[in-house]
Amino acid sequence: MWFSSQTPHGSLGVLLLSLLFLPSHATLECRPPGPVVPKPRYVNSHPKLVAATRKLTGVLEGALAGDIHAGWPVENTSFSIGLIMHDQGDKAVPVWEYHHLAPGNINGTRHISRDSQYLVGSISKVVSDYILLRSGLGLDESIATFLPELADEGTLIAWKSITLRHLATQVAGIPPNCESDGLEQKEWGANIEEMAFQSIIISRITSSPLASLTSATTQFLKGMVESYPVAQPGERPVYSNIAFTLLMYAVEARTGKNYSELLEAYVTEPLGLRNTVVSPGDDDKAVIPPVDNSWGSNYGDNAPGGGLVSSLSDLSIFVHGILSRTIFDSDTAVREWLKPTSSTGSLHSLVGTPWEIYRTGELTPDHPHVVDIYAKGGAAYGYQAQMAVLDEYGAGIVLLTAGSALATPPLYDAILTTLVPALDEIAREQAMDRGYTGLFVDCPPSPSSNEANGSISFNVTVVQDQDSLVLLGIERNGTDILASLREIWSVTIGGFLAVTPSKARIFPIDIRNEDLISVPDGTRQKVVREDWRVEWELALSGDTDLPGAGLSAKNCLAWTLTDWMYYGSEPIDRIVFVLDAESGDVIGLEIPYLRSGVLQLVKTP
Ligand SMILES: *[C@@H]1O[C@H](CO)[C@@H](O)[C@H](O)[C@H]1NC(C)=O
Ligand SMILES: *[C@@H]1O[C@H](CO)[C@@H](O)[C@H](O)[C@H]1NC(C)=O
Ligand SMILES: *[C@@H]1O[C@H](CO)[C@@H](O)[C@H](O)[C@H]1NC(C)=O
Ligand SMILES: *[C@@H]1O[C@H](CO)[C@@H](O)[C@H](O)[C@H]1NC(C)=O
Ligand SMILES: *[C@@H]1O[C@H](CO)[C@@H](O)[C@H](O)[C@H]1NC(C)=O
Ligand SMILES: *[C@@H]1O[C@H](CO)[C@@H](O)[C@H](O)[C@H]1NC(C)=O
Repeated sequence: MWFSSQTPHGSLGVLLLSLLFLPSHATLECRPPGPVVPKPRYVNSHPKLVAATRKLTGVLEGALAGDIHAGWPVENTSFSIGLIMHDQGDKAVPVWEYHHLAPGNINGTRHISRDSQYLVGSISKVVSDYILLRSGLGLDESIATFLPELADEGTLIAWKSITLRHLATQVAGIPPNCESDGLEQKEWGANIEEMAFQSIIISRITSSPLASLTSATTQFLKGMVESYPVAQPGERPVYSNIAFTLLMYAVEARTGKNYSELLEAYVTEPLGLRNTVVSPGDDDKAVIPPVDNSWGSNYGDNAPGGGLVSSLSDLSIFVHGILSRTIFDSDTAVREWLKPTSSTGSLHSLVGTPWEIYRTGELTPDHPHVVDIYAKGGAAYGYQAQMAVLDEYGAGIVLLTAGSALATPPLYDAILTTLVPALDEIAREQAMDRGYTGLFVDCPPSPSSNEANGSISFNVTVVQDQDSLVLLGIERNGTDILASLREIWSVTIGGFLAVTPSKARIFPIDIRNEDLISVPDGTRQKVVREDWRVEWELALSGDTDLPGAGLSAKNCLAWTLTDWMYYGSEPIDRIVFVLDAESGDVIGLEIPYLRSGVLQLVKTP
């Protein structure tokens, strides 16, 4: 249902009155996605990060020494860990890293470092999707367009309906593996046949595929023609390794380059990666565990889904490229890449391209809010890896292990729960230190105030509570503007929706413009104008004895209310921080709809 409304305070326009219920209590449960305060900067020497990494180092050393129950065989498991930040000086050098070469790992490198090579398993899928996105192929074209073998009418899988996008985002509904690459009996353990499959005569398993590319490809595609669908295309995520084989066949068909050439042309050459290759890697640089392992394997046509070798330094460059929005030619492409494309049966897990997205509210217990982790895990025999992008903090984590598969979950959890709260605290502290909070006033005689209109005084107070920055007061010539805004809300949006605004929270929205402004001493200063928006904390106004009351209040729909109200062509929820272009510190604040000019920060609380 659509309503149209005109108010005495400006044009409200047309408001979509869907089932719009909002949280009835004060939390950040319904904040805009993205950073709560600006991303932390220059964290490497920050005492809070130093304390956190020292703590984590202590935990790791305790686990390796046996003082803390590690949960994995420490003598056989080597690992490399890095914290990557959007603003780190050297892209290849994480702001913090930790390496451990296990005494049992006697083959391979003797000098573990960020350049040591590991098998990274399915992190290869992220790289293959990146190649696809860079290749310029039309993502909504059918895979059968590129691989006519799949256009066969007799296929069980609806190949013609499956697009490159479906494959890249794991919703093609096709099998994970080519049947003949499946688990082989020796990997199942000695007794499994006796236990479960004794009387089943296996006639379809063929020998390992992919001896030479052309015949292997043909054999592979023949397998695809005979495979069962696992789900309908576009319906749900179904993890598939062969999806990436098919995608790279498509890119190969279009470009004439094979996978290692594509890797070089689109990834390692432009990004300057030195250790990322199609397996096998370099034995002398390798971290090789003394357990059953796949080091040195030739993954053949399965390489795009899981056959890459890489290092912490290379994945640091890659993750930094995502965090700094530079890995594609446009920052829009990077933002798009970090979006979920399907959901799972859990509230916490979404799927992207090919991100395994984990949404958790447990990482920052002192400032509870949902943190999105765009991650990809990887595994090969003897190797496990995790790569994670926490874009809200401009931070990434890479964890590479060689040895027991038991090591990765506890290491990853320890890293996240130790480092992320520190990044969160640093971001909040820097918001204060950089001058986002305080009293902003119109300091006469400011060139921005119009003398001819008489002096109009402004003061604006921004504070930070446990959750976010809050606009505590706006006074214009003695009038409480914030009270007026609440009033406007109640007669406009409040007239449609049973909600009452309480706190005016403000959030950064990643829109910045450079400018030159006149400052009180008469000179011109280079500044950056940074847009923020007010998002009112809203409470449901009514109450009812009907069953189910409040259920829909958990549906976060506040995002539908941004930018609705204008006054004199300016949105009344927009406020602009003015930063010194060089230091990035706040020098002032503008409330464009009030024509406030640049209010100067005069007092920090
Ligand atoms: C670790 O490796 C040693 C040999 O270096 C082996 O004896 C031991 O069983 C291994 N432990 C585990 C838990 O795999
Ligand atoms: C790709 O082609 C090059 C020769 O152009 C060859 O050296 C390389 O082994 C090929 N890579 C794969 C994965 O087939
Ligand atoms: C080291 O490599 C050699 C040769 O591949 C192999 O025979 C041996 O088992 C390996 N030892 C360990 C501890 O990994
Ligand atoms: C000064 O006031 C006049 C009339 O009220 C208005 O048109 C003009 O925009 C004002 N100038 C500034 C800089 O606010
Ligand atoms: C603002 O307040 C001052 C002092 O009370 C008054 O002189 C001035 O006219 C006011 N300006 C406006 C635009 O109301
Ligand atoms: C803001 O200005 C008003 C007068 O216009 C004054 O009464 C009030 O104390 C000021 N607020 C702050 C926080 O300075």
